[in-house]
Amino acid sequence: MCGIVGYTGHRNAVPVLMEGLGRLEYRGYDSAGIACLNHGGKHLFVVKEKGKLSRLREELKRHAVSAKIGIGHTRWATHGEPSRFNAHPHLDFTHRIAIVHNGIIENYASLKEKLIRKGIRFASQTDTEVAGNLIGHFYGKGNLLEAVRKAVKELRGYFAFVVIAQDEPDKIVAFKRSNPLVIGLGKGENFVASDVTALLPYTRRVIYLEDEEYAEITPAQVRIFSSSGKLVKRTSVTVRWDVSKAQKGGYPHFMLKEINEQPAVVKSILASHVKNKRIHFDTLDRKLTKRLKQIRKVHFVSCGTAYHAGLVGNYMMGECLDLPAEATVSSEFRYEDPSVDKRDLVVLVTQSGETADTLAALREAKAKGALTLAIVNVVGSTVAREADGVIYTHAGPEIGVASTKAYLAQLTVIALFTLYLAGIHPCRKKQFSLLKMKSRLQEMLRLPSQIKETLHQEAAVVRCAKTLYGKKNFLYLGRGYNFPNALEGALKLKEITYAHAHGYPAGEMKHGPIALVDNRQPVICICPESSKTYEKMLSNIEEIKARRGIIITLATQGDKQVAKLSNQVFSVPNTSEMFSPILTAVPLQLFAYHVAVLNNRDVDQPRNLAKSVTVE
Ligand code: AGP
Repeated sequence: MCGIVGYTGHRNAVPVLMEGLGRLEYRGYDSAGIACLNHGGKHLFVVKEKGKLSRLREELKRHAVSAKIGIGHTRWATHGEPSRFNAHPHLDFTHRIAIVHNGIIENYASLKEKLIRKGIRFASQTDTEVAGNLIGHFYGKGNLLEAVRKAVKELRGYFAFVVIAQDEPDKIVAFKRSNPLVIGLGKGENFVASDVTALLPYTRRVIYLEDEEYAEITPAQVRIFSSSGKLVKRTSVTVRWDVSKAQKGGYPHFMLKEINEQPAVVKSILASHVKNKRIHFDTLDRKLTKRLKQIRKVHFVSCGTAYHAGLVGNYMMGECLDLPAEATVSSEFRYEDPSVDKRDLVVLVTQSGETADTLAALREAKAKGALTLAIVNVVGSTVAREADGVIYTHAGPEIGVASTKAYLAQLTVIALFTLYLAGIHPCRKKQFSLLKMKSRLQEMLRLPSQIKETLHQEAAVVRCAKTLYGKKNFLYLGRGYNFPNALEGALKLKEITYAHAHGYPAGEMKHGPIALVDNRQPVICICPESSKTYEKMLSNIEEIKARRGIIITLATQGDKQVAKLSNQVFSVPNTSEMFSPILTAVPLQLFAYHVAVLNNRDVDQPRNLAKSVTVE
């Protein structure tokens, strides 16, 4: 998720680009840059900086740039750490073409080797520069559109990009495949951007590019071409949204947008790590993989929602490997003088990669010689850089303080890593056969569509939230893989509605919490049919029923037994218990969200909380 913007027309391009990037910063903010054709298009001028847009603004003050055409980019790193060298725009090897890009070019490594063999040199680690050099390679004597078409034929992956060339000083060429690009139509000027947010100060007349389409944009006209090179007739539409709504993709809050992004996030993770029915992690080198085969215990160390992901990881490891595993909150791990050494694997799970306690736990584990693996969302973050190995979750920027898509991304990556480890480690459980592993991997490929199906429960969730949003105490119960989701559901509710919510292992009911149950007490019970303790969970629900509790259940589609006992059922598709938390988390997120909205809470920035707890 990066932000792209382009302008060609009668204004000075620089303020237009900077205004647009400011409105796209929510799409990525680890580095930014612009490229303009300065001094009447005589030469390409590029300014880019690591960090927030404000640093680029400061740097631009040192240059008197006035140009009528330019492109800009605000980055969310996927390949290559956040740095000035990896920041966009990138120039091709002739320095006559500039490119900004959003997405992932899957075959960048092989293309890079091919171009290096042709004597082309690279200045960055990015896949973007490979696309830029490929276009430069085909550019030859000119015709930017033709060069882009030839290059795209060799690029694999999901991306959108925009290029300008010194020798065609008023022209922008754009291409879209899966990632968004929208063209803004002005008078004697035209714009292009990742989404309408960047266009709204100048125009509301837009054209949405479709997949495999090219656009040639000059101040006087916009021409759109299909992949076969045919001119496409496309009428413009008028955008009615305001900027804030546009940044949220039309959703009222980032949290709801991010909940709805989950099918695409999980799909992209599976696409990145599963090829020809095998799991691979590009970022794990041979040395680390060798050590993985020798570990004797796995520790998941993290905070908050990431801790709940670690707890689920515990159960996954326990099902697949004869290796002790445990999940600990970072703030406990770091002070308990953990007994770890070189044969222990410590997995740090963290969305931000900057959580102080998790970073301290990483350093403690490393000091004791443990093998450390970070499962992180923010590329180039401190935890990612200091751990021995890293697997990125690539969930894109998560703006809502309450973690949702990052959680599902963590669960998906941990599940893949567990299956991967079971495939290489001598302690794979006998009963977890290679055949079973293969079928589990097949099941995972169905998760994106199943998550999408689960999102259809939203109307039922809203109806339920309307009956319960006045309640001040909620109890969440789960067993096995879904005990962590009882904790996660409770955390989601308390952190954005400020109601008290308690997650508990359902087997503990008789040891105290059942005293809470009466006809005013809502109890959310997570009870997928695939759970090996399904019958036990059913008995817990009956105990609550006997005490007239308000029973909300998360059950497998078509489960009539649970439905009979429930005041309200949210149903999820059937999947192995191992993956059930990935599905049951979704109604829990939606429930917390709608109860918060009904209570007029600040859903994206709840009180007292920060997105990343960088202090102890
Ligand atoms: C979860 O909704 C919270 N925002 C919080 O518990 C969060 O998961 C925790 O602070 C850990 O953050 P991290 O994943 O960035 O380390």
